Amino acid sequence: MDLEQRLRILVVGGGLAGLAAAAYLRGRHDVTVLERFTLVDFARNDYAMSITANTHRFLRELGAEDWQLQAVPLKYVWGCDAKGNVNESVAQSITPSGATTIFARRSRIHKELLAAATGRGGTGTPATIRENVKITSIDVEDGVIKTEDGREFRGDLIIGADGVNSIVRTAILGPSAPSASPSGVAAYLCTATSPDVWRIRDVDRMERWAKGKAVIVGDAAHAILPYFGLGCNLAIEDGEALGYFLSNVTSASELPQALERFTALRVARAHMVQLAGRQVAGLVSEEEKESLPPFDGKAFMAKVYACGTGGSGGRGGQEGGAGGTGEGGKLHLEGRTLINK
Ligand SMILES: Cc1cc2nc3c(=O)[nH]c(=O)nc-3n(C[C@H](O)[C@H](O)[C@H](O)COP(=O)(O)OP(=O)(O)OC[C@H]3O[C@@H](n4cnc5c(N)ncnc54)[C@H](O)[C@@H]3O)c2cc1C
Ligand SMILES: *[C@@H]1O[C@H](CO)[C@@H](O)[C@H](O)[C@H]1NC(C)=O
Ligand SMILES: *[C@@H]1O[C@H](CO)[C@@H](O)[C@H](O)[C@H]1NC(C)=O
Repeated sequence: MDLEQRLRILVVGGGLAGLAAAAYLRGRHDVTVLERFTLVDFARNDYAMSITANTHRFLRELGAEDWQLQAVPLKYVWGCDAKGNVNESVAQSITPSGATTIFARRSRIHKELLAAATGRGGTGTPATIRENVKITSIDVEDGVIKTEDGREFRGDLIIGADGVNSIVRTAILGPSAPSASPSGVAAYLCTATSPDVWRIRDVDRMERWAKGKAVIVGDAAHAILPYFGLGCNLAIEDGEALGYFLSNVTSASELPQALERFTALRVARAHMVQLAGRQVAGLVSEEEKESLPPFDGKAFMAKVYACGTGGSGGRGGQEGGAGGTGEGGKLHLEGRTLINK
């Protein structure tokens, strides 16, 4: 077999998930990103995002330095009781890998992921970005994408990174595909002149993310409520994990197995975060409430961060050993160490 054979990968959507996937896949495969708008549009409706330590480390691996991200490190975490009384503040130390939780503007993260996907510095071949290409239909069996203006693209793999109202998701799941529903939760986007209120949508959990030649990532696969600010982290982790599972794939016939490994790992992690968001929002059903233990914030955060310092975050901490820092899944909080077990 020709070990240098590269797959033709089409990514639908040039958001954080799509660009992260492109950045991680360009080393081994030929990637084209199809975006319905222009990427400049991402500077609009900007907001600050929290980037957990593991994702922060991925951004660094991809060449995004803190000064480029205009990163503000998270220094304190305030705990509060049910009445909202603040009763503790803990300093968060930097993990041995040098990465810590940061805040950065979405536009900055987007810009750096774009540079990682398309820059000359990265490995392999820079990804091609095509703007103003709106996808209207997808054939998951043949790997064919059709656009609003009648163009056709063909690939060995289609990655649906097309956000919460994903059409790739519908193509994969058929009429049973869950659609994004308003959750009753609102978010404020504060711009200099006016706060815009957004209704936050989430999508029912899905066990299936792949079919034929298509797979979904990011909000398309697991739109979550914004309580923990983890949507972007999951999106970037998805990209890293796809890059990993497709790193040895040299022919389309090997794809189904690689996609299966990818989804098996990522579905579990996304569902954990998704469920926690719903629990905190009080949106779980009565039946679910009875079968679930009460939400344990510290245990949850330990799980989320655990993968970060152990060196295999994108893969949910289960595929050990990839670029580890030896820290083995520990989150330091002012002398206390939370260990994910
Ligand atoms: C107010 C707010 C605050 C948030 N804060 C945080 C936070 O602090 N931390 C955090 O981690 N997350 C946060 N999130 C969530 C985070 O923004 C999302 O999880 C993340 O942006 C998802 O990225 P994505 O690439 O999957 O989807 P998107 O960013 O939605 O990108 C999808 C892309 O696909 C394109 N597209 C869609 N359909 C088509 C089509 N048919 N043809 C071609 N292109 C198409 C779209 O134009 C878009 O560019 C926040 C969200 C909101 C609304
Ligand atoms: C703060 O309140 C929470 C929730 O009631 C509780 O679990 C925690 O132990 C409290 N911490 C301190 C330092 O009192
Ligand atoms: C790819 O191949 C290398 C070398 O054989 C191996 O160590 C690695 O685990 C493989 N990766 C995957 C995702 O199978």
